[in-house]
Amino acid sequence: MSKLQVNGKDLDVDADPAMPLLWVLRDTLGMTGTKFGCGQALCGACTVHLDGAPVRSCVTPVSAAAGKKLITIEAIGEDRIGKAVQAAWVKHDVAQCGYCQSGQVMSATALLRSKRFPTDAEINQAMAGNICRCGTYMRIRAAIRDAAVQLG
Ligand code: FES
Ligand code: FES
Repeated sequence: MSKLQVNGKDLDVDADPAMPLLWVLRDTLGMTGTKFGCGQALCGACTVHLDGAPVRSCVTPVSAAAGKKLITIEAIGEDRIGKAVQAAWVKHDVAQCGYCQSGQVMSATALLRSKRFPTDAEINQAMAGNICRCGTYMRIRAAIRDAAVQLG
């Protein structure tokens, strides 16, 4: 049994401590907003926040989340920065197929939390681990810049 705090709720989860967090989220808790892409920390589709930091849930054991605040895409709109990022995503019509986008939003929110007005180079660096097979990178950068302006 693992004790988790997911999106502000304390949960007891019946899972092997070594099980990837992504499996617990999707298969045990039914929270399918976080996506499975590569399973090897290469694509960023599975990005969630642990104590505000972006982590790849496909390679993070559930035991690593114990005692930490886990935030997923389902609750990112409750965060001031996450809400601004989501609004900018809609405004710039970022998503194409959408598969990578929850991970992109999580990484973008973490970036703006650590750096309010990132340079293009800092955006590129922070988002480099989030792959988009549809090639929405230009719209992602525009939305991040816009969200930064809206947040002020
Ligand atoms: S599914 Fe986790 S990084 Fe690709
Ligand atoms: S929008 Fe299709 S993979 Fe990114």
